[in-house]
Amino acid sequence: MKTVGDAHGRTLELIRQAILAPSSHNTQPWLFRVCDAVIELRADRRRALPVNDPDDRELTVSCGCALMNLRIAAAASGFSPHVHLLPDAEDPEVLARVTITPACGSPPPEGDLLEFIEKRRTYRKSFLPRKVGAATVGSLVEAARCEGAVLRPLLSVEERQGAARLVAEGDAAQWADPRWRRELAAWMRPRRRGDGLPVPTLTAPVVRAVVRLFNMGGGVGSKDQRVAETSPLLAVLGTEGDTVRDWLTAGQALQRVLLLACRNGLQASYLNQPIQVAALRPKLQSVVGEGFPQILMRLGYPVEASPAVPRRSLEEVTQKG
Ligand SMILES: Cc1cc2nc3c(=O)[nH]c(=O)nc-3n(C[C@H](O)[C@H](O)[C@H](O)COP(=O)(O)O)c2cc1C
Repeated sequence: MKTVGDAHGRTLELIRQAILAPSSHNTQPWLFRVCDAVIELRADRRRALPVNDPDDRELTVSCGCALMNLRIAAAASGFSPHVHLLPDAEDPEVLARVTITPACGSPPPEGDLLEFIEKRRTYRKSFLPRKVGAATVGSLVEAARCEGAVLRPLLSVEERQGAARLVAEGDAAQWADPRWRRELAAWMRPRRRGDGLPVPTLTAPVVRAVVRLFNMGGGVGSKDQRVAETSPLLAVLGTEGDTVRDWLTAGQALQRVLLLACRNGLQASYLNQPIQVAALRPKLQSVVGEGFPQILMRLGYPVEASPAVPRRSLEEVTQKG
């Protein structure tokens, strides 16, 4: 028979898996409040990015990714998580309430993605020059559909070039804004801090100063444009609407796609600039044709293994209810 201690340990293990999710600038904008078998996922808006993400859209997508991990970890331990999105109209910080109950019958199938939670990385280097097969692409599209989102691969040269040009335009707009550069620099941190984008401790002050002071939009834009055009797979993840609920849907779908991709030997990274820059989002929308673009991603086979990016401790993200 399980003891109370076992149950608490199990809950912490689910949260440990949840926080391995990706988040913009590795802000990890989540908190988990635990009360018996209920885990509340809360937005931690002290970790918002007001310049890069003024509406907390990416913050919410990131929390959706953590929610997907939590669901997968629960299913893999033989539980059937019951998820109530936005359960409290009075408290917008509560993004989801998850009740962990033993599965009657077989637990949800997504539990078989568990081992890929630790293996997934944001892979920013060049990929191997190897195509992603149509069957694999089809399975990723289906994974997004299962979560209520749409993954739209950009297959034609026109679509790719159109999106890639917007990425370069997005880089130019972001780097031209000193507030955006200051915000990025503030999240470039030594690895031991447990959050943010890791930079070596010794060079961190110099790297941050360069990012703060110099507009490198031209060089970054040309590189990103080339990266977008030549990625083995370029795809937009979109949703029907653009509400907080849609952003949570996008996050869960994103994480499911990323983990399935990882199971197929793929890794991904992001070229979200034309979604983050408000004026460019409708232009990307017209390239894609329908829905609201939430994530522009590139996927491919990595050349080498890359180290995991740090996370905050369980103590920092967990509260007793
Ligand atoms: C909603 C969202 C938006 C992101 N946007 C970008 C981005 O625009 N550029 C980028 O390089 N990485 C982006 N990332 C990736 C994060 O920087 C990355 O997840 C974080 O540094 C943690 O690293 P990991 O994914 O390897 O665990 C994004 C991640 C999420 C979930």
